[in-house]
Amino acid sequence: VDLRRFNTFGLPAVAERFLALTDEAQLTDPLFRQAPDLVLGGGSNLLLMDELPGLTVHVQLSGVTWADGKGRYRVAAGTDWNQFVRYTLEQGHSGMENLILIPGTVGASPVQNIGAYGSEVAEFITTVHAWEYGVGAVDLSPADCAFGYRDSRFKREPGRYLITAVSFDLSEPRALKLDYGAIRTELELRQIDQPTASDVAAAVTAIRRSKLPDWFFLGNSGSFFKNPVVPRPQYEALHEQYTDLPAYPIDDTSVKLPAGWLIDRAGLRGTGTPRVGTYARQALVLVNRGGATGRDVLAFSTQVQETVAARFGVQLEREVQLIGRCD
Ligand code: EPU
Repeated sequence: VDLRRFNTFGLPAVAERFLALTDEAQLTDPLFRQAPDLVLGGGSNLLLMDELPGLTVHVQLSGVTWADGKGRYRVAAGTDWNQFVRYTLEQGHSGMENLILIPGTVGASPVQNIGAYGSEVAEFITTVHAWEYGVGAVDLSPADCAFGYRDSRFKREPGRYLITAVSFDLSEPRALKLDYGAIRTELELRQIDQPTASDVAAAVTAIRRSKLPDWFFLGNSGSFFKNPVVPRPQYEALHEQYTDLPAYPIDDTSVKLPAGWLIDRAGLRGTGTPRVGTYARQALVLVNRGGATGRDVLAFSTQVQETVAARFGVQLEREVQLIGRCD
């Protein structure tokens, strides 16, 4: 099966065997005593190589399967993330407005603990429901999930769980988060002084549309690298040289730097080959300009890493998951 339409980068990849998971009962099949070679959700955080040996499972479990009307939801893993966020807002349950328009599925959201504009999905998750290969159905608490920045147990222990559903709690009112990115500016532009969650959702939608390419028209996997965390002295030395270097303090000893800024200032924004390059409006996003393969993207991303390392002494780590053999 050709996976081109199952990954937002639009990379050509052929799965040796393919199975659509439409019913949790399928998981009792002896096939699921061990992990398939690849479990696909929305395919929005993947870098696929041409040939994927073994079994690829596409999670198609879908919909809100339980809700208490007060902001508690259980949602099947294959549900589109953005549609679910919109639904909660329509129901009057705010909280996830900053996470609107993120591509991918509900089941993939805990894996890399998706985050944007000062919110992370981990803040809202009460339980991750999963199939543990060789064990059976299990429920994981947030502590079990070991969430971190773009990180979780599911990312650190690939091949142990298949996420079937996620439960969320939006019942507690929370203060709106307006401090990150361009949210305040966007609200000012719209002359809104007392924003509601829907206003924030509209602002985030506008910001994302202006900076991030729509994968339907230009294949991409969002941020290609993580924002690197560096020791404070290294940040200070860099800051002395580049006074406009933005930074997000993590703790007393370390600082998170925007990878997009580093790539941009290394002169790489909007550059690349005819097939792959950095997006002209957000250098952290690598785009498929047409006909790129996984190898093309990987080769270009290595060049980006080398250029940034040479210029700033900072090593960028991939955020997207590389799937398949690349030797
Ligand atoms: N910047 C540049 N040039 C660029 C890109 C960025 O100078 O080409 C500067 C910006 O001006 C800003 C800073 O770098 O000062 C940070 O940029 P931005 O606000 O766009 O956010 P980011 O750190 O690049 C992260 C997430 C995004 C998320 C945004 C908003 C990571 C790896 N990425 O990007 O997540 O939407 O913050 O919260 O943490 C994704 O994971 O796919 C993703 C899009």
